[in-house]
Amino acid sequence: MSNIILRTKDLNKSYPMNGITVYALAGVDIRIERGEFVSIVGPSGCGKSTLLSIAGGLMTPSSGQVFIDGKDISQLSEQESALIRQKHIGFVFQSYNLLVDLTAAENVEFPMVLAGVPEAERQTRALELLERVGLADKTDYLPDELSGGQKQRVAIARALANRPEMILADEPTGNLDSATAGEIMRLLTEFNHEDQVTLVMVTHAPEDAARAHRTISMRDGQIENL
Ligand SMILES: Nc1ncnc2c1ncn2[C@@H]1O[C@H](COP(=O)(O)OP(=O)(O)OP(=O)(O)O)[C@@H](O)[C@H]1O
Ligand SMILES: [Mg+2]
Repeated sequence: MSNIILRTKDLNKSYPMNGITVYALAGVDIRIERGEFVSIVGPSGCGKSTLLSIAGGLMTPSSGQVFIDGKDISQLSEQESALIRQKHIGFVFQSYNLLVDLTAAENVEFPMVLAGVPEAERQTRALELLERVGLADKTDYLPDELSGGQKQRVAIARALANRPEMILADEPTGNLDSATAGEIMRLLTEFNHEDQVTLVMVTHAPEDAARAHRTISMRDGQIENL
């Protein structure tokens, strides 16, 4: 098994804009090793979210390839791509993206429902994860009844539900005050250290980026260093 869990090769993403072509990504090559914690930084609009979305199979590139565990996912059908995501990747977003009508426990169970995990096992796993993120007493709360930091904890538990090898996080602390952001970072770092979950995190916060093993810096749709 290769030690590279995620690799992109000459990734391009362009949009037609008023008759000209705008490049959100222009020839992006990255390699992420299993177990690494990598931060992605760069000015607003430089292509960070686009890169993360394409790397996670949420968006298709205009050209280029994405390999997850050595498998090229860039040309898969929507159904095949969904299966890869389900099995290998957990996503965490700045705005939490919780389902508002579901409780914390039900939100964590949701990816397991999609993966066909039996109910009893789902419930046990959801409880275990919510305990792990410090929300054992909030399992029956709705997202609206939780603070921002608590919502992000639920989102992290949900991202880990199907035991992914990798978490892709897009500004996970972007909406949080610095103390709460610190707690979320401690949690993500803990899952990376203790459970060897690979973590790729876009951030604007230098103190969060500094916790990573390595930082990828982007500008105008390109990687500045590697
Ligand atoms: N649907 C779209 N149509 C046209 N251009 C787009 C579209 N989506 C993104 N872009 C452009 O692609 C570029 C990269 O966007 P992206 O969201 O990846 O930036 P970002 O680095 O994540 O920025 P931020 O730090 O503000 O989140 C931007 O210039 C944006 O305007
Ligand atoms: Mg972004």
